[in-house]
Amino acid sequence: MTSPAAVIVLAAGAGTRMRSTTPKVLHRIGGRTLVGHVLATARGLAPDHLVTVVRHERDAVVAHIAEVDPGVVIADQDDVPGTGRAVQCALDALDAATDRPVEGAVVVLAGDVPLLDTGTLVALLEAHEADGNAVTALSTEVDEPSGYGRIVRDADGGVAAIVEEKDATAEQRAIREINASIYVFDAAALREGLGSVGRDNAQGEVYLTDVLALARESGKRVAAIIAEDSILVEGVNDRSQLALLGAELNRRTVHQWMLDGVTVIDPATTWVDVDVELAPDVTLLPGTQLHGATVVAGGAVIGPDTTLTDVEVGEGATVTRTHGTLAVIGPNATVGPFSFLRPGTVLGERGKIGAYVETKNAEIGAGSKVPHLSYIGDATIGEHTNIGAATVTLNYDGSQKHRTTIGSHVKIGGDTMLVAPVQVGDGAYTGAGAVLRRDVPPGALAVTSGTQRNIDGWVTSRFPDSPAAQAAAAAEPPTEQHGVDE
Ligand code: UD1
Ligand code: CA
Repeated sequence: MTSPAAVIVLAAGAGTRMRSTTPKVLHRIGGRTLVGHVLATARGLAPDHLVTVVRHERDAVVAHIAEVDPGVVIADQDDVPGTGRAVQCALDALDAATDRPVEGAVVVLAGDVPLLDTGTLVALLEAHEADGNAVTALSTEVDEPSGYGRIVRDADGGVAAIVEEKDATAEQRAIREINASIYVFDAAALREGLGSVGRDNAQGEVYLTDVLALARESGKRVAAIIAEDSILVEGVNDRSQLALLGAELNRRTVHQWMLDGVTVIDPATTWVDVDVELAPDVTLLPGTQLHGATVVAGGAVIGPDTTLTDVEVGEGATVTRTHGTLAVIGPNATVGPFSFLRPGTVLGERGKIGAYVETKNAEIGAGSKVPHLSYIGDATIGEHTNIGAATVTLNYDGSQKHRTTIGSHVKIGGDTMLVAPVQVGDGAYTGAGAVLRRDVPPGALAVTSGTQRNIDGWVTSRFPDSPAAQAAAAAEPPTEQHGVDE
Protein backbone atom coordinates (compact mmCIF):
# COMPACT_ATOMS: atom_id res chain seq x y z
CA MET A 1 0.00 0.00 0.00
CA THR A 2 1.26 3.50 -0.80
CA SER A 3 0.75 6.06 1.94
CA PRO A 4 -2.23 8.37 1.34
CA ALA A 5 -1.56 11.95 0.25
CA ALA A 6 -3.74 13.22 3.06
CA VAL A 7 -5.96 12.14 5.91
CA ILE A 8 -8.80 14.52 6.80
CA VAL A 9 -10.36 14.16 10.25
CA LEU A 10 -13.81 15.76 10.66
CA ALA A 11 -14.23 17.31 14.11
CA ALA A 12 -16.28 20.48 13.56
CA GLY A 13 -19.65 19.15 14.68
CA ALA A 14 -21.33 20.28 17.89
CA GLY A 15 -22.04 16.86 19.40
CA THR A 16 -25.20 18.17 21.06
CA ARG A 17 -26.33 14.75 22.27
CA MET A 18 -23.38 14.61 24.68
CA ARG A 19 -25.05 17.49 26.62
CA SER A 20 -21.63 18.67 27.69
CA THR A 21 -19.59 21.85 27.94
CA THR A 22 -16.65 19.73 26.77
CA PRO A 23 -16.58 19.31 22.98
CA LYS A 24 -17.52 15.74 22.01
CA VAL A 25 -14.18 14.85 20.45
CA LEU A 26 -12.39 15.83 23.69
CA HIS A 27 -14.24 13.26 25.79
CA ARG A 28 -11.97 10.38 26.76
CA ILE A 29 -11.88 6.62 26.71
CA GLY A 30 -8.85 4.44 27.42
CA GLY A 31 -6.84 7.47 28.52
CA ARG A 32 -7.12 9.36 25.23
CA THR A 33 -9.59 11.77 23.73
CA LEU A 34 -11.81 10.51 20.92
CA VAL A 35 -9.95 12.67 18.42
CA GLY A 36 -6.64 11.56 19.96
CA HIS A 37 -7.52 7.96 19.09
CA VAL A 38 -8.44 8.92 15.54
CA LEU A 39 -5.27 10.97 15.01
CA ALA A 40 -3.10 8.09 16.28
CA THR A 41 -4.85 5.72 13.86
CA ALA A 42 -4.40 8.23 11.02
CA ARG A 43 -0.69 8.63 11.80
CA GLY A 44 -0.35 4.87 11.42
CA LEU A 45 -0.93 5.34 7.67
CA ALA A 46 2.04 7.76 7.44
CA PRO A 47 0.09 10.28 5.32
CA ASP A 48 1.90 13.20 3.65
CA HIS A 49 -0.58 15.54 5.35
CA LEU A 50 -2.90 15.16 8.31
CA VAL A 51 -5.69 17.74 8.55
CA THR A 52 -8.39 18.23 11.18
CA VAL A 53 -11.51 20.30 10.50
CA VAL A 54 -12.71 22.28 13.53
CA ARG A 55 -15.47 24.76 14.33
CA HIS A 56 -17.45 24.00 17.50
CA GLU A 57 -15.29 25.02 20.53
CA ARG A 58 -12.43 25.35 18.04
CA ASP A 59 -9.89 26.88 20.46
CA ALA A 60 -10.18 24.03 22.96
CA VAL A 61 -10.00 21.41 20.22
CA VAL A 62 -7.05 23.12 18.49
CA ALA A 63 -5.11 23.45 21.76
CA HIS A 64 -5.61 19.75 22.47
CA ILE A 65 -4.55 18.69 18.96
CA ALA A 66 -1.39 20.83 19.23
CA GLU A 67 -0.55 18.84 22.35
CA VAL A 68 -1.13 15.33 21.03
CA ASP A 69 0.07 15.83 17.44
CA PRO A 70 1.70 19.19 16.63
CA GLY A 71 2.08 18.21 12.97
CA VAL A 72 -1.66 18.38 12.27
CA VAL A 73 -2.87 21.10 9.87
CA ILE A 74 -5.95 22.86 11.28
CA ALA A 75 -8.78 23.74 8.90
CA ASP A 76 -11.58 26.02 10.13
CA GLN A 77 -15.00 25.23 8.74
CA ASP A 78 -17.06 28.29 7.82
CA ASP A 79 -20.81 28.91 8.34
CA VAL A 80 -21.89 26.40 5.71
CA PRO A 81 -22.91 23.17 7.46
CA GLY A 82 -22.29 19.59 6.45
CA THR A 83 -19.60 16.98 6.08
CA GLY A 84 -19.04 17.93 2.42
CA ARG A 85 -18.33 21.51 3.37
CA ALA A 86 -15.99 20.30 6.12
CA VAL A 87 -13.94 18.33 3.57
CA GLN A 88 -13.91 21.30 1.19
CA CYS A 89 -12.52 23.49 3.98
CA ALA A 90 -9.84 20.86 4.66
CA LEU A 91 -8.79 20.81 1.00
CA ASP A 92 -8.65 24.63 0.95
CA ALA A 93 -6.48 24.67 4.09
CA LEU A 94 -4.16 22.08 2.53
CA ASP A 95 -3.86 24.11 -0.66
CA ALA A 96 -2.92 27.14 1.44
CA ALA A 97 -0.34 25.14 3.42
CA THR A 98 1.35 23.34 0.50
CA ASP A 99 2.96 24.31 -2.84
CA ARG A 100 0.88 22.12 -5.08
CA PRO A 101 -2.59 20.62 -4.88
CA VAL A 102 -2.89 17.23 -3.22
CA GLU A 103 -3.09 14.30 -5.63
CA GLY A 104 -3.89 10.63 -5.12
CA ALA A 105 -5.62 9.00 -2.18
CA VAL A 106 -7.35 11.20 0.40
CA VAL A 107 -8.71 9.39 3.48
CA VAL A 108 -11.64 10.99 5.33
CA LEU A 109 -12.37 9.98 8.94
CA ALA A 110 -14.88 11.12 11.54
CA GLY A 111 -13.28 12.46 14.72
CA ASP A 112 -15.69 10.54 16.95
CA VAL A 113 -14.92 6.94 15.89
CA PRO A 114 -12.35 5.93 18.49
CA LEU A 115 -12.00 2.18 17.95
CA LEU A 116 -11.09 2.37 14.26
CA ASP A 117 -7.68 0.76 13.78
CA THR A 118 -4.96 1.37 11.21
CA GLY A 119 -5.29 -2.20 9.88
CA THR A 120 -8.88 -1.62 8.79
CA LEU A 121 -7.80 1.53 6.93
CA VAL A 122 -4.88 -0.26 5.27
CA ALA A 123 -7.33 -2.87 3.93
CA LEU A 124 -9.63 -0.09 2.70
CA LEU A 125 -6.74 1.69 0.94
CA GLU A 126 -5.54 -1.57 -0.61
CA ALA A 127 -8.99 -2.32 -2.03
CA HIS A 128 -9.27 1.27 -3.28
CA GLU A 129 -5.92 1.01 -5.07
CA ALA A 130 -6.39 -2.53 -6.40
CA ASP A 131 -9.81 -1.78 -7.92
CA GLY A 132 -8.88 1.69 -9.21
CA ASN A 133 -11.84 3.28 -7.39
CA ALA A 134 -12.72 6.94 -7.32
CA VAL A 135 -14.36 6.42 -3.90
CA THR A 136 -14.17 3.50 -1.48
CA ALA A 137 -16.42 3.85 1.56
CA LEU A 138 -16.37 1.71 4.67
CA SER A 139 -19.75 0.35 5.66
CA THR A 140 -21.07 -2.11 8.18
CA GLU A 141 -24.26 -4.03 8.84
CA VAL A 142 -26.15 -3.26 12.04
CA ASP A 143 -29.44 -4.36 13.58
CA GLU A 144 -30.37 -0.77 14.51
CA PRO A 145 -29.56 1.40 11.46
CA SER A 146 -31.64 4.43 12.46
CA GLY A 147 -29.77 7.75 12.38
CA TYR A 148 -27.17 6.57 9.88
CA GLY A 149 -26.82 7.07 6.16
CA ARG A 150 -27.82 3.90 4.26
CA ILE A 151 -25.74 2.30 1.52
CA VAL A 152 -28.01 1.93 -1.51
CA ARG A 153 -26.70 -0.76 -3.85
CA ASP A 154 -28.02 -1.43 -7.34
CA ALA A 155 -28.80 -4.73 -9.00
CA ASP A 156 -25.15 -5.62 -9.69
CA GLY A 157 -24.21 -4.94 -6.05
CA GLY A 158 -22.32 -1.72 -6.83
CA VAL A 159 -22.93 1.38 -4.69
CA ALA A 160 -25.51 3.67 -6.26
CA ALA A 161 -25.71 6.25 -3.49
CA ILE A 162 -25.66 6.92 0.23
CA VAL A 163 -28.98 8.24 1.48
CA GLU A 164 -29.28 9.99 4.83
CA GLU A 165 -31.96 8.78 7.24
CA LYS A 166 -33.90 12.04 6.96
CA ASP A 167 -33.93 11.88 3.16
CA ALA A 168 -34.60 8.14 2.85
CA THR A 169 -37.73 6.43 1.59
CA ALA A 170 -39.37 3.80 3.81
CA GLU A 171 -37.81 1.13 1.62
CA GLN A 172 -34.34 2.66 1.98
CA ARG A 173 -34.75 2.93 5.74
CA ALA A 174 -35.07 -0.83 5.91
CA ILE A 175 -31.49 -1.20 4.63
CA ARG A 176 -29.19 -2.43 7.41
CA GLU A 177 -25.91 -1.59 5.69
CA ILE A 178 -24.86 1.84 7.00
CA ASN A 179 -22.22 4.41 6.09
CA ALA A 180 -19.46 4.59 8.70
CA SER A 181 -18.26 8.03 7.54
CA ILE A 182 -14.83 6.58 6.71
CA TYR A 183 -13.70 6.82 3.10
CA VAL A 184 -10.86 6.85 0.61
CA PHE A 185 -11.31 9.34 -2.25
CA ASP A 186 -9.25 10.03 -5.29
CA ALA A 187 -8.34 13.70 -4.76
CA ALA A 188 -9.42 14.80 -8.27
CA ALA A 189 -12.77 12.98 -8.06
CA LEU A 190 -13.34 14.47 -4.60
CA ARG A 191 -12.74 18.05 -5.79
CA GLU A 192 -14.90 17.51 -8.85
CA GLY A 193 -17.73 15.99 -6.82
CA LEU A 194 -17.66 18.64 -4.06
CA GLY A 195 -17.82 21.28 -6.79
CA SER A 196 -21.33 20.20 -7.71
CA VAL A 197 -22.84 19.07 -4.35
CA GLY A 198 -25.77 21.27 -3.36
CA ARG A 199 -27.76 21.72 -0.15
CA ASP A 200 -31.10 20.53 -1.47
CA ASN A 201 -31.82 17.97 1.25
CA ALA A 202 -33.79 17.58 4.47
CA GLN A 203 -31.03 19.13 6.62
CA GLY A 204 -29.94 21.89 4.20
CA GLU A 205 -26.33 20.63 4.58
CA VAL A 206 -23.56 19.97 2.07
CA TYR A 207 -23.42 16.19 2.25
CA LEU A 208 -20.08 14.52 1.60
CA THR A 209 -22.08 11.40 0.84
CA ASP A 210 -23.50 13.02 -2.32
CA VAL A 211 -20.02 12.81 -3.87
CA LEU A 212 -20.49 9.04 -4.23
CA ALA A 213 -23.63 9.30 -6.37
CA LEU A 214 -22.08 12.08 -8.46
CA ALA A 215 -18.91 10.05 -9.08
CA ARG A 216 -21.00 7.06 -10.01
CA GLU A 217 -23.13 9.12 -12.43
CA SER A 218 -20.00 10.39 -14.18
CA GLY A 219 -18.94 6.79 -14.79
CA LYS A 220 -16.31 6.41 -12.03
CA ARG A 221 -15.85 3.33 -9.87
CA VAL A 222 -17.48 3.61 -6.43
CA ALA A 223 -17.34 0.80 -3.84
CA ALA A 224 -18.25 0.14 -0.23
CA ILE A 225 -16.34 -2.41 1.82
CA ILE A 226 -18.21 -4.00 4.71
CA ALA A 227 -16.39 -4.01 8.06
CA GLU A 228 -17.22 -7.32 9.81
CA ASP A 229 -16.50 -5.92 13.25
CA SER A 230 -19.12 -3.14 13.52
CA ILE A 231 -17.85 -1.73 16.78
CA LEU A 232 -14.60 -0.65 15.08
CA VAL A 233 -16.51 1.86 12.97
CA GLU A 234 -19.07 2.93 15.55
CA GLY A 235 -19.22 6.63 16.43
CA VAL A 236 -19.90 8.22 19.81
CA ASN A 237 -23.02 10.36 19.91
CA ASP A 238 -24.01 10.27 23.57
CA ARG A 239 -22.51 9.29 26.91
CA SER A 240 -24.06 5.86 26.82
CA GLN A 241 -22.12 5.08 23.63
CA LEU A 242 -19.04 6.65 25.20
CA ALA A 243 -19.24 4.15 28.07
CA LEU A 244 -20.02 1.26 25.73
CA LEU A 245 -17.06 1.93 23.44
CA GLY A 246 -14.85 2.68 26.46
CA ALA A 247 -15.67 -0.73 27.94
CA GLU A 248 -15.11 -2.45 24.61
CA LEU A 249 -11.77 -0.72 24.10
CA ASN A 250 -10.76 -1.78 27.60
CA ARG A 251 -11.89 -5.36 27.01
CA ARG A 252 -9.70 -5.51 23.91
CA THR A 253 -6.71 -3.87 25.64
CA VAL A 254 -6.86 -6.20 28.65
CA HIS A 255 -7.38 -9.23 26.38
CA GLN A 256 -4.24 -8.34 24.41
CA TRP A 257 -2.19 -7.96 27.61
CA MET A 258 -3.32 -11.40 28.74
CA LEU A 259 -2.13 -12.85 25.42
CA ASP A 260 1.16 -11.03 26.01
CA GLY A 261 1.67 -12.77 29.36
CA VAL A 262 -0.04 -10.61 31.96
CA THR A 263 -2.20 -12.38 34.57
CA VAL A 264 -5.52 -10.57 34.99
CA ILE A 265 -7.67 -12.15 37.69
CA ASP A 266 -10.84 -10.21 36.81
CA PRO A 267 -10.84 -8.55 33.37
CA ALA A 268 -14.27 -7.01 34.05
CA THR A 269 -12.97 -4.79 36.88
CA THR A 270 -9.49 -4.15 35.49
CA TRP A 271 -9.04 -0.94 33.49
CA VAL A 272 -5.91 -0.32 31.46
CA ASP A 273 -5.37 2.79 29.34
CA VAL A 274 -4.02 2.29 25.83
CA ASP A 275 -0.64 3.90 26.58
CA VAL A 276 0.12 1.74 29.64
CA GLU A 277 3.02 -0.73 29.30
CA LEU A 278 3.06 -4.06 31.11
CA ALA A 279 5.79 -6.71 31.16
CA PRO A 280 5.11 -10.44 30.99
CA ASP A 281 4.31 -11.98 34.40
CA VAL A 282 2.79 -8.87 35.83
CA THR A 283 -0.28 -9.78 37.92
CA LEU A 284 -3.28 -7.45 38.08
CA LEU A 285 -5.72 -8.20 40.90
CA PRO A 286 -9.42 -7.20 40.77
CA GLY A 287 -10.29 -3.50 40.85
CA THR A 288 -7.00 -2.31 39.37
CA GLN A 289 -6.98 0.81 37.17
CA LEU A 290 -3.80 1.73 35.31
CA HIS A 291 -3.86 5.11 33.63
CA GLY A 292 -1.72 7.38 31.49
CA ALA A 293 1.91 6.42 30.93
CA THR A 294 2.02 3.85 33.73
CA VAL A 295 4.74 1.22 33.22
CA VAL A 296 4.89 -2.01 35.22
CA ALA A 297 7.91 -4.35 35.19
CA GLY A 298 7.84 -8.15 35.33
CA GLY A 299 6.74 -10.00 38.44
CA ALA A 300 5.04 -6.97 39.97
CA VAL A 301 1.65 -7.56 41.60
CA ILE A 302 -0.82 -4.68 41.48
CA GLY A 303 -4.09 -4.51 43.38
CA PRO A 304 -6.67 -5.29 44.49
CA ASP A 305 -8.42 -1.91 44.28
CA THR A 306 -5.45 0.15 43.14
CA THR A 307 -5.43 3.19 40.86
CA LEU A 308 -2.11 4.26 39.35
CA THR A 309 -1.71 7.21 36.97
CA ASP A 310 1.66 7.83 35.31
CA VAL A 311 3.38 5.54 37.81
CA GLU A 312 6.48 3.42 37.16
CA VAL A 313 6.50 0.12 39.04
CA GLY A 314 9.76 -1.87 39.30
CA GLU A 315 10.32 -5.59 38.94
CA GLY A 316 8.77 -7.73 41.65
CA ALA A 317 7.17 -4.83 43.50
CA THR A 318 3.80 -5.24 45.19
CA VAL A 319 1.28 -2.40 45.28
CA THR A 320 -1.82 -3.17 47.35
CA ARG A 321 -4.96 -0.99 47.68
CA THR A 322 -3.07 2.13 46.69
CA HIS A 323 -3.81 5.42 44.93
CA GLY A 324 -0.76 6.80 43.15
CA THR A 325 0.08 9.55 40.64
CA LEU A 326 3.41 10.45 38.99
CA ALA A 327 5.38 8.20 41.31
CA VAL A 328 8.22 5.70 40.91
CA ILE A 329 8.14 2.45 42.88
CA GLY A 330 11.48 0.61 42.90
CA PRO A 331 12.16 -3.07 42.25
CA ASN A 332 10.89 -5.41 44.98
CA ALA A 333 9.46 -2.50 46.94
CA THR A 334 6.16 -2.87 48.77
CA VAL A 335 3.38 -0.30 48.90
CA GLY A 336 0.07 -0.39 50.74
CA PRO A 337 -2.47 -1.31 51.81
CA PHE A 338 -4.16 2.12 51.89
CA SER A 339 -1.24 4.23 50.71
CA PHE A 340 -1.54 7.57 48.88
CA LEU A 341 1.42 8.32 46.60
CA ARG A 342 1.29 11.84 45.26
CA PRO A 343 3.46 13.34 42.50
CA GLY A 344 7.21 13.21 42.99
CA THR A 345 7.25 10.12 45.20
CA VAL A 346 10.29 7.95 44.43
CA LEU A 347 10.60 4.74 46.45
CA GLY A 348 13.93 2.88 46.19
CA GLU A 349 14.63 -0.82 45.71
CA ARG A 350 13.16 -2.96 48.53
CA GLY A 351 11.73 0.16 50.14
CA LYS A 352 8.37 0.20 51.88
CA ILE A 353 5.48 2.63 52.06
CA GLY A 354 2.94 1.03 54.35
CA ALA A 355 -0.59 1.38 55.64
CA TYR A 356 -2.15 4.86 55.86
CA VAL A 357 0.94 6.64 54.60
CA GLU A 358 0.78 9.71 52.33
CA THR A 359 3.85 10.82 50.38
CA LYS A 360 4.55 13.77 48.05
CA ASN A 361 7.82 15.00 46.51
CA ALA A 362 9.50 12.37 48.61
CA GLU A 363 12.60 10.40 47.73
CA ILE A 364 12.77 7.34 49.92
CA GLY A 365 16.05 5.46 49.40
CA ALA A 366 16.71 1.77 48.85
CA GLY A 367 15.68 -0.41 51.77
CA SER A 368 14.14 2.49 53.69
CA LYS A 369 10.74 2.04 55.30
CA VAL A 370 7.79 4.24 56.17
CA PRO A 371 5.57 1.46 57.46
CA HIS A 372 2.62 3.09 59.26
CA LEU A 373 0.38 6.17 59.52
CA SER A 374 2.77 8.87 58.31
CA TYR A 375 2.97 11.92 56.06
CA ILE A 376 6.25 12.34 54.18
CA GLY A 377 6.18 15.45 51.98
CA ASP A 378 9.04 17.46 50.43
CA ALA A 379 11.55 15.07 51.92
CA THR A 380 14.67 13.12 51.04
CA ILE A 381 15.35 9.94 52.98
CA GLY A 382 18.60 7.99 52.51
CA GLU A 383 19.01 4.21 52.44
CA HIS A 384 18.07 1.62 55.08
CA THR A 385 16.39 4.20 57.27
CA ASN A 386 13.31 3.38 59.35
CA ILE A 387 10.63 5.94 59.98
CA GLY A 388 8.59 5.23 63.13
CA ALA A 389 4.80 5.09 63.02
CA ALA A 390 2.86 8.35 62.88
CA THR A 391 5.80 10.50 61.77
CA VAL A 392 5.02 13.76 60.00
CA THR A 393 7.24 16.04 57.96
CA LEU A 394 5.84 19.50 58.67
CA ASN A 395 6.73 20.97 55.30
CA TYR A 396 4.45 24.00 55.35
CA ASP A 397 5.02 26.99 57.63
CA GLY A 398 1.85 28.73 56.55
CA SER A 399 3.42 30.54 53.62
CA GLN A 400 6.23 28.39 52.22
CA LYS A 401 7.12 24.74 51.73
CA HIS A 402 10.40 23.48 53.22
CA ARG A 403 12.38 20.29 52.82
CA THR A 404 13.24 17.59 55.31
CA THR A 405 16.45 15.65 54.73
CA ILE A 406 17.05 12.39 56.57
CA GLY A 407 20.25 10.39 56.04
CA SER A 408 20.94 6.67 55.70
CA HIS A 409 20.68 4.07 58.50
CA VAL A 410 18.62 6.51 60.57
CA LYS A 411 15.96 5.43 63.09
CA ILE A 412 13.20 7.98 63.54
CA GLY A 413 11.12 7.22 66.65
CA GLY A 414 7.36 6.85 66.54
CA ASP A 415 5.18 9.97 66.52
CA THR A 416 7.97 12.30 65.42
CA MET A 417 7.29 15.80 64.05
CA LEU A 418 10.04 17.05 61.71
CA VAL A 419 9.65 20.83 61.46
CA ALA A 420 11.16 21.65 58.06
CA PRO A 421 13.65 22.83 57.03
CA VAL A 422 15.47 20.24 59.12
CA GLN A 423 18.17 17.61 58.57
CA VAL A 424 18.87 14.35 60.35
CA GLY A 425 22.41 13.05 59.73
CA ASP A 426 23.45 9.52 58.75
CA GLY A 427 23.19 6.93 61.48
CA ALA A 428 21.30 9.24 63.87
CA TYR A 429 18.47 8.05 66.15
CA THR A 430 15.57 10.09 67.48
CA GLY A 431 13.42 9.42 70.54
CA ALA A 432 9.69 8.73 70.37
CA GLY A 433 7.42 11.74 70.25
CA ALA A 434 10.23 14.16 69.33
CA VAL A 435 9.46 17.53 67.78
CA LEU A 436 12.62 18.19 65.76
CA ARG A 437 13.15 21.89 65.05
CA ARG A 438 16.96 21.74 64.84
CA ASP A 439 19.29 19.56 62.76
CA VAL A 440 20.46 16.27 64.25
CA PRO A 441 24.17 15.51 63.63
CA PRO A 442 25.23 12.09 62.27
CA GLY A 443 25.26 9.41 64.94
CA ALA A 444 23.48 11.55 67.56
CA LEU A 445 20.36 10.65 69.56
CA ALA A 446 17.83 13.49 69.58
CA VAL A 447 15.22 13.61 72.33
CA THR A 448 12.81 16.46 72.92
CA SER A 449 10.01 15.20 75.13
CA GLY A 450 9.94 16.12 78.82
CA THR A 451 10.72 13.75 81.69
CA GLN A 452 7.86 11.37 82.52
CA ARG A 453 6.33 11.70 86.01
CA ASN A 454 4.24 8.90 87.59
CA ILE A 455 1.88 10.13 90.33
CA ASP A 456 1.19 7.01 92.38
CA GLY A 457 -2.43 6.28 93.32
CA TRP A 458 -3.86 9.20 91.33
CA VAL A 459 -6.68 7.23 89.66
CA THR A 460 -7.71 5.49 92.89
CA SER A 461 -8.00 8.74 94.82
CA ARG A 462 -9.72 10.64 92.02
CA PHE A 463 -12.23 7.91 91.02
CA PRO A 464 -12.36 5.70 94.10
CA ASP A 465 -14.80 2.94 93.10
CA SER A 466 -14.33 3.08 89.34
CA PRO A 467 -13.56 -0.06 87.31
CA ALA A 468 -10.11 1.44 86.71
CA ALA A 469 -9.48 1.78 90.44
CA GLN A 470 -10.68 -1.79 91.03
CA ALA A 471 -8.44 -3.07 88.24
CA ALA A 472 -5.49 -1.17 89.74
CA ALA A 473 -6.19 -2.60 93.23
CA ALA A 474 -6.28 -6.14 91.84
CA ALA A 475 -3.06 -5.73 89.86
CA GLU A 476 0.28 -7.16 90.94
CA PRO A 477 2.57 -4.40 92.19
CA PRO A 478 5.28 -3.63 89.62
CA THR A 479 8.45 -5.61 90.13
CA GLU A 480 10.75 -3.60 87.89
CA GLN A 481 10.48 -0.26 86.08
CA HIS A 482 11.18 -0.04 82.36
CA GLY A 483 12.33 3.03 80.54
CA VAL A 484 14.91 5.75 80.84
CA ASP A 485 14.65 9.21 82.31
CA GLU A 486 15.43 11.97 79.88
C1 UD1 B 1 -22.64 11.25 8.74
C2 UD1 B 1 -22.94 10.71 7.35
C3 UD1 B 1 -23.78 9.44 7.48
C4 UD1 B 1 -23.09 8.43 8.35
C5 UD1 B 1 -22.74 9.03 9.69
C6 UD1 B 1 -21.88 8.09 10.50
C7 UD1 B 1 -23.04 12.66 5.93
C8 UD1 B 1 -23.93 13.60 5.19
N1 UD1 B 1 -23.64 11.71 6.62
O1 UD1 B 1 -23.85 11.60 9.34
O2 UD1 B 1 -24.02 8.89 6.22
O3 UD1 B 1 -23.88 7.28 8.53
O4 UD1 B 1 -21.97 10.25 9.50
O5 UD1 B 1 -21.74 8.57 11.80
O6 UD1 B 1 -21.83 12.78 5.84
N2 UD1 B 1 -18.81 17.22 10.92
C9 UD1 B 1 -18.07 18.33 10.57
N3 UD1 B 1 -18.72 19.39 10.00
C10 UD1 B 1 -20.05 19.38 9.79
C11 UD1 B 1 -20.79 18.24 10.16
C12 UD1 B 1 -20.14 17.17 10.71
O7 UD1 B 1 -16.87 18.37 10.74
O8 UD1 B 1 -20.56 20.39 9.28
C13 UD1 B 1 -18.12 16.08 11.52
C14 UD1 B 1 -18.57 15.77 12.93
O9 UD1 B 1 -17.81 16.48 13.88
C15 UD1 B 1 -18.35 14.28 13.00
C16 UD1 B 1 -18.53 13.79 11.59
O10 UD1 B 1 -18.39 14.94 10.76
O11 UD1 B 1 -17.03 13.98 13.42
C17 UD1 B 1 -19.89 13.17 11.37
O12 UD1 B 1 -20.89 14.10 11.71
P1 UD1 B 1 -22.28 13.66 12.37
O13 UD1 B 1 -23.14 14.87 12.49
O14 UD1 B 1 -22.02 12.84 13.56
O15 UD1 B 1 -22.86 12.67 11.26
P2 UD1 B 1 -24.01 12.91 10.25
O16 UD1 B 1 -23.73 14.12 9.40
O17 UD1 B 1 -25.27 12.86 10.96
CA1 CA C 1 -25.19 15.98 11.22
